[in-house]
Amino acid sequence: MASGQLSRAGALACTGCRHACHVMLYCDTKTQLFGRIPIRHIILMQMRFDGLLGFPGGYVTPSEETLEAGLSRELLEELGVALPILAEDHVDCCQAPASSHSSTSRLITHFYVKKMEEEQIKEVEKEAASTATDHGQEVLGMVRVPLYTTKNGGGLAPFLSHSFIGNARSQLVDSLLRLDMIAPEELHKALGHSLKLST
Ligand code: GTP
Ligand code: MN
Ligand code: MN
Ligand code: MN
Ligand code: MN
Repeated sequence: MASGQLSRAGALACTGCRHACHVMLYCDTKTQLFGRIPIRHIILMQMRFDGLLGFPGGYVTPSEETLEAGLSRELLEELGVALPILAEDHVDCCQAPASSHSSTSRLITHFYVKKMEEEQIKEVEKEAASTATDHGQEVLGMVRVPLYTTKNGGGLAPFLSHSFIGNARSQLVDSLLRLDMIAPEELHKALGHSLKLST
């Protein structure tokens, strides 16, 4: 377990902590950009009200709801669809650094990953832009993560050079590796390039 990470049981034992749950929804796709660059996977993130990129989800109240029920409630608000999230979709949880939130109680962020069908992902995008109550308020729009690199360095590197909430950027990068969505060498190249772009 990496530093800052907790077990699920350990995290829930902290009754004085605030908890937030976010999820990476994704699917496989055969679509090609410009008819020749494989897109490989559609991964959904969102542009938040504060201008930062993050995953859909939010604060949950473990004394009143399970982590997964709380996450589903947040998804209904932010995406406009009822998506069942299971305990087995839980990837990890970690203690957010004190500087990342203003309240006095500590924040524990739980991360989930859920694989879906391409049609379901497109339905989520449609509802998120139309019926979701938070659309245009807490959530400015859903965005797909470009996993490819174009000839002139476009794609993943410029995407990673944007600003992310909390540790959403490493949640994304770790997931790409763990789920074998990109070759490690390609990812490391993009990470290096993204740092040059953001300075
Ligand atoms: P409110 O309804 O305004 O309370 O927002 P919310 O319930 O949707 O909460 P939000 O999604 O903003 O998440 C709560 C906190 O979790 C944020 O203030 C961040 O500190 C953190 N957070 C938000 N998104 C992410 C994310 O994608 N990854 C991680 N690790 N943390 C996040
Ligand atoms: Mn929310
Ligand atoms: Mn949210
Ligand atoms: Mn909320
Ligand atoms: Mn809200």
